[in-house]
Amino acid sequence: MPVETLIWVGERPGFVRMIEQTKLPTEFELLDVKTVEQMVDAIWRLAVRGAPAIGVAAGYGVLLGVQALEGLGGEEFMGRTREIAATLGKARPTAVNLFWALDRMVGRAQHDCAAGMSGDAMRSGLFEEAHAIFHEDQITCEALGRHGAELISDGGTYLTHCNAGALATTNTGTALAPFYEAARQGKQIAVFADETRPLLQGARLTSWELMQAGISVTLICDNAAGLVMFEDKIDAVFVGSDRIARNGDVCNKIGTYSVAVLARQHRIPFYAVAPLSTFDRNITHGSMIPIEERPAEEITRGFGKQTAPDEVKVYNPAFDVTPAELVTGIVTETGVIELPCQSSVESTMRAAGIDLA
Ligand code: MRU
Repeated sequence: MPVETLIWVGERPGFVRMIEQTKLPTEFELLDVKTVEQMVDAIWRLAVRGAPAIGVAAGYGVLLGVQALEGLGGEEFMGRTREIAATLGKARPTAVNLFWALDRMVGRAQHDCAAGMSGDAMRSGLFEEAHAIFHEDQITCEALGRHGAELISDGGTYLTHCNAGALATTNTGTALAPFYEAARQGKQIAVFADETRPLLQGARLTSWELMQAGISVTLICDNAAGLVMFEDKIDAVFVGSDRIARNGDVCNKIGTYSVAVLARQHRIPFYAVAPLSTFDRNITHGSMIPIEERPAEEITRGFGKQTAPDEVKVYNPAFDVTPAELVTGIVTETGVIELPCQSSVESTMRAAGIDLA
């Protein structure tokens, strides 16, 4: 694995150690997160970010809360677990992996409570569940890499947007996993990384982690994506996702939609790479996905430097939705959904055991 984005340290009690991603690439700092409130803050500030990593962080966030519930059992323990999950659920609204992980943790506690387990046994169950979420994410990244690498040619050049790599997961990432796997297989590839305004995940994180791994990466301004496609430099686009609707609409970092439109104009394949935990069974159309709006200062005073008048009106959505019709394929851990649409997405979800009733 290229970097250890976040890990659980110790047994019970323990804490989460994560890379403080807001400091990259100039400083490599580790952050120890020991309370639920610190975890909410870390997720909100993007110290940990990227949909799958947020899901793992949420599972471990529940542990930070329940490990302090010594002596509680039954419904009392359940109620506190639900409160902890609700607090963590307010950290960020768009990446469904956050809610998927929290539902899974609460579901496990509910199951163990209904089985009449003691508070201590319920806590052990939650530790098991959070570690399972972590380990499954690692395995999923490998599967995404294997399926995605089949779409990558020796000598190919690929464009990516934001950071959907090791820093967004606990292993090799989602959209970057095929690059790591293709490189491991000996394919010579090159990557263009959009800088990804306003928080520069492409510049600060994607270029950093691909350089660490020895994969050729060229950084471009977001608004150069059209030109590099026009110049015939790009063989395909690979992006991650924060939430995928049942009709195949793909929500990802702001700017992804523009890249998809450009890719269509230039007849370049556009792939989203995402685990099934990113598919939302409650959302039938991309327009239903809640889009996070972040503070104006991220645009007007990015990284501490004022670049716009103080009083200017600002609209700062952190994500956008790419309609399914612009998506060539969605790479999942079970295979590639080609030309995704409601029936193909739903049948993939059903085959993976997701209840769509
Ligand atoms: O705001 P961020 O940095 O959390 O946004 C991250 C993205 O948009 C990623 O592309 C997405 O979460 C997929 S990560 C594997």
